[in-house]
Amino acid sequence: MKVVAINGSPHKDGNTYQCLEEVGKAVQAAGIDYEILQIGTRVHPCLACSHCIENHELQCVQDDDGVNEIIKKCIEADGIILGSPVYHGGIAGGMKCVLDRLMLCAGCVDNQLHHKVGAAICTLRRSGGMETYQQLLGTMDAMEMVIVTSDYWGAVHGHQAGEVQQDTEGMEVMAKLGRNVAWMVKVIDAAKGKIDPPETHARTFTNFIR
Ligand SMILES: Cc1cc2nc3c(=O)[nH]c(=O)nc-3n(C[C@H](O)[C@H](O)[C@H](O)COP(=O)(O)O)c2cc1C
Repeated sequence: MKVVAINGSPHKDGNTYQCLEEVGKAVQAAGIDYEILQIGTRVHPCLACSHCIENHELQCVQDDDGVNEIIKKCIEADGIILGSPVYHGGIAGGMKCVLDRLMLCAGCVDNQLHHKVGAAICTLRRSGGMETYQQLLGTMDAMEMVIVTSDYWGAVHGHQAGEVQQDTEGMEVMAKLGRNVAWMVKVIDAAKGKIDPPETHARTFTNFIR
């Protein structure tokens, strides 16, 4: 069993990373593998070229920025945690680029993410935590993932790298999130061969008029 976390901050060791680490300590303590995937600083946005959709490919045509490796590891994982700093009230730009492509390649065509465990966290100096947290969750709940929560919303306060460690309540929320993620991953694993997951099928894509 493995859980991967995506650090959507350009800071490899910043607040978002430290929160994901806190989640990971609890996941690992439960005997589950855990890896934090760092997004690159030059990730491309989705080109909306539809190549992945039209060719049923689980990879993006843009293969030079590490996103395909993230997509591959997410497809292989039992659980995915999304982490982003709040940038101007929403997900950081690089993370948005990754998520648009991850959800299109791995989720929209032949959904590889459904029934995987999902959770989200964000870090912020002051405002925009709820919006960003909901935005991250929204990408996963459209992928039929099993969303796991903590006992408070996943927004931890800090500005300079390391300041999140002073948000005692926030870090407790992270640890609890990690325990809940680990528990749900184990529950789903233990059910294999005993309780079948519900059937799923490709959506009928409609727009608002037909
Ligand atoms: C471009 C930019 C925009 C930001 N916008 C917000 C914001 O809207 N609200 C907020 O509370 N903090 C904002 N921040 C602060 C970061 O969210 C905060 O410092 C966060 O902890 C950084 O996480 P990191 O260390 O993982 O990069 C912004 C920072 C940057 C660089």
